[in-house]
Amino acid sequence: MSTSKPDTATAEADCLRGIGSQRLWSRLMTLGEIGALADGGVNRQALSEAEIAAWQYLTGLAAQGTGRPIEVSTDAAGNLFLTLPGRYRDLPPVLLGSHLDSQPAGGRFDGAYGVLSALEVLLTRAERGLESERDLIAVGWMNEEGSRFAPGMMGSQAFAGAAGIDEIRTVCDADGISVGAALDHLHTVFAGLPRRALGFPVAAYFELHIEQGPLLEAAGTNIGVVSGIQGKKTWRIEIDGESGHAGTLAMRDRRDPLAAFARVAVALDNELGHADEQVKFTIGRVVAEPNAPSVVPRKLTFSIDLRHPDNAMLTRLGMQVEALCSANARPCSVRAVPLVDAPSNGFDPQLGRLIETAASAFGYSSMPILSAAGHDARYLAQVTPSAMIFIPCREGISHSPAEWSTPEQVGAGADVLYATLEAWLQTQNQERHDAS
Ligand code: GLV
Ligand code: MN
Ligand code: MN
Repeated sequence: MSTSKPDTATAEADCLRGIGSQRLWSRLMTLGEIGALADGGVNRQALSEAEIAAWQYLTGLAAQGTGRPIEVSTDAAGNLFLTLPGRYRDLPPVLLGSHLDSQPAGGRFDGAYGVLSALEVLLTRAERGLESERDLIAVGWMNEEGSRFAPGMMGSQAFAGAAGIDEIRTVCDADGISVGAALDHLHTVFAGLPRRALGFPVAAYFELHIEQGPLLEAAGTNIGVVSGIQGKKTWRIEIDGESGHAGTLAMRDRRDPLAAFARVAVALDNELGHADEQVKFTIGRVVAEPNAPSVVPRKLTFSIDLRHPDNAMLTRLGMQVEALCSANARPCSVRAVPLVDAPSNGFDPQLGRLIETAASAFGYSSMPILSAAGHDARYLAQVTPSAMIFIPCREGISHSPAEWSTPEQVGAGADVLYATLEAWLQTQNQERHDAS
């Protein structure tokens, strides 16, 4: 795949053996049993008992590996690191991974596939006696989804310095449990694990993921070389009204936040949701309080998720949110709390070329693709050269129990991750040897 000095012939031949999809597939299905829903979906919330069980499953697999042992560690943000040691431990490691948490009614592939494939790459290299100069780390980032604790991508943001851990620890879930308390619980369960410094230097980051959209399947293409991630802004909107008796409070005297929400939601959907063909506008969560059939609510909280590939357009649309809420919530009062402000980003083109070359070496077709979904790689790209590999998923469905990719698709993506890593390691070795 590339030319360089140590172990080249073995490594090159080995690259094209890929990693074999059967073991990875069966482990992915087993991981899908942790937090499984009756309909085939998964509910594995960040820092929950189910995610703790997923950590136990992965650390158990890491311990079963043959060859050099895999070291397990964590950090203050509850990220999970599984490290295959390299020859020179002071060189910045390469990270490969994704996340283990899911949406409340999520699928078996989103996130889990990337973490398990990363571990599979490390285990396969160890079994084949392939040693690298630098450490290789399979990582599971804490709370990518943001469904239990909002916003998401807390682990990768803390790691990249995009958000402070002290602030992250104060965020609470619907039951009033803070991230801090949940993190402390996780760290108590895994009390023996070494704690790495938050945001240690990294040489590169690779994330393998299902596309979560329909483009690869529609094009009949095996591999997506991800060029970047579309921009995203999110808000928590709080509408305050006045509680009352559903049978006695006169309509003219009401300050009903649910009625206000109905007006606000229609206005937002009209003005933002139909701005052009590319915009994505979602109200995914609505909570009325006290949420009782015979009580006029006193308060309503809802979420806005707004995405667009064009940063100027995203900014323009985002600037309208507060005014649209205020104008339509009357006579209630309204507060818009911005949570995420992540513009479209681009990934490292050199790493993209390695992915393309690796795919074609296996005979897999590939195409460049902009990710419409968000990923931890967005934040890693702020601190290290980063890349993402996509595989197709059935009908583009994701964040749903119906999420599905075939064993062949799963295997192809993992093969490409394996070979891309090897090619990247070879180029790094070459550069180091040329420089010495
Ligand atoms: C990630 O899960 C996203 O919502 O894009
Ligand atoms: Mn994901
Ligand atoms: Mn997701």
